[in-house]
Amino acid sequence: MDRVHITDVAPRDGLQNQAVHASTAHKLALVERLAAAGIGSVEITSFVSPKAVPQMADAADLLPQVQARLPALRSSVLVPNRKGLERAHAAGAHEIAVVLSATETMNRKNINMGLDEAIAVSEQTLQAALALGLRTRAYVAVAFDCPFEGETPLDRVVDLSLRMTKAGAHEIVIADTIGSASPGMVKERMGALTQAIAADKLAVHFHDTRGMGAANAWAALEAGIRRFDASVGGIGGCPFAPGAAGNLATEDLVLLAERSGFSTGISLPGLLDAIDLAQEVLQRPLGGRSIAWLRKQRDSASGTHLKRPQGLHQSPTQLAPPPG
Ligand code: COA
Ligand code: ZN
Repeated sequence: MDRVHITDVAPRDGLQNQAVHASTAHKLALVERLAAAGIGSVEITSFVSPKAVPQMADAADLLPQVQARLPALRSSVLVPNRKGLERAHAAGAHEIAVVLSATETMNRKNINMGLDEAIAVSEQTLQAALALGLRTRAYVAVAFDCPFEGETPLDRVVDLSLRMTKAGAHEIVIADTIGSASPGMVKERMGALTQAIAADKLAVHFHDTRGMGAANAWAALEAGIRRFDASVGGIGGCPFAPGAAGNLATEDLVLLAERSGFSTGISLPGLLDAIDLAQEVLQRPLGGRSIAWLRKQRDSASGTHLKRPQGLHQSPTQLAPPPG
């Protein structure tokens, strides 16, 4: 069966923008539930300025704990510059992601660099990460529209993706940072990108701002893409991109993929357990478009097709009481 690979970005993209700050113990517990649900790859945190994103200030504390408890999990971390890479490496990171926005203004707002400087810093960071033997991802952010500059030229997205590939990125993540893409745009853009770069090196990262996350994922699947970012419960959004709502929810993507003949290795009841935990931590209701139906299936005695598979990874630890 055709496999779909999902990186859950809830602990980073999801938690970076929340009013309630999750504790390190809560973040660890969330990652454990994701692993228990069968998620094989998680973006754990970011090594960014704690002044820019205070929610990620515990990165150096969290990452080694995750890697010690879940050695089989692919744990990736976002780094915006060399300093971030150095901090990630010192904390024992095996995989990093750089973030290059496709427009001048978005780079300035996000990482305080212009486009040319951001390209150079991303290239240098990738090369340094490769020299350290790390696995690398490169985000090409605002790859559809920029909240400041409007529609992003497609040839620039292709050019930046090629440059990141040449700098050694193992995976290019085409990101719809504000969730403005439509399936037609995804078809066009991923079609052009797969002409330039092998499909198995490309991933997509959708936000569900306009309710098109699942439709966009389908368009990407049809374009041959099998690597996806998603966020359990649909938590997410960039604090520096106005109008960005939550990510495409992992549970919606898993349901879409599994119901369409793809395998994900991910358990939907396991994801519901992770959402229950995230709700407790963030103290608000969470979940993608399918959440009501999924919960009904779980709660009904006849919901046999949502039974938990046995023996998936480690069992989650008990949730510590919320801080304060
Ligand atoms: N981690 C921690 N601290 C960092 C850092 C990093 N990766 N990079 C720089 N810093 C520190 C510097 O050491 C310096 O500290 P000091 O004031 O104590 O001397 C301070 O931040 C300013 O450094 P500078 O290089 O001038 O950075 P800046 O103020 O221009 O900010 C970034 C640039 C990239 C560090 C900042 O914009 C950032 O962290 N952005 C991340 C945005 C993000 O996470 N967006 C969401 C995900 S896409
Ligand atoms: Zn995002």
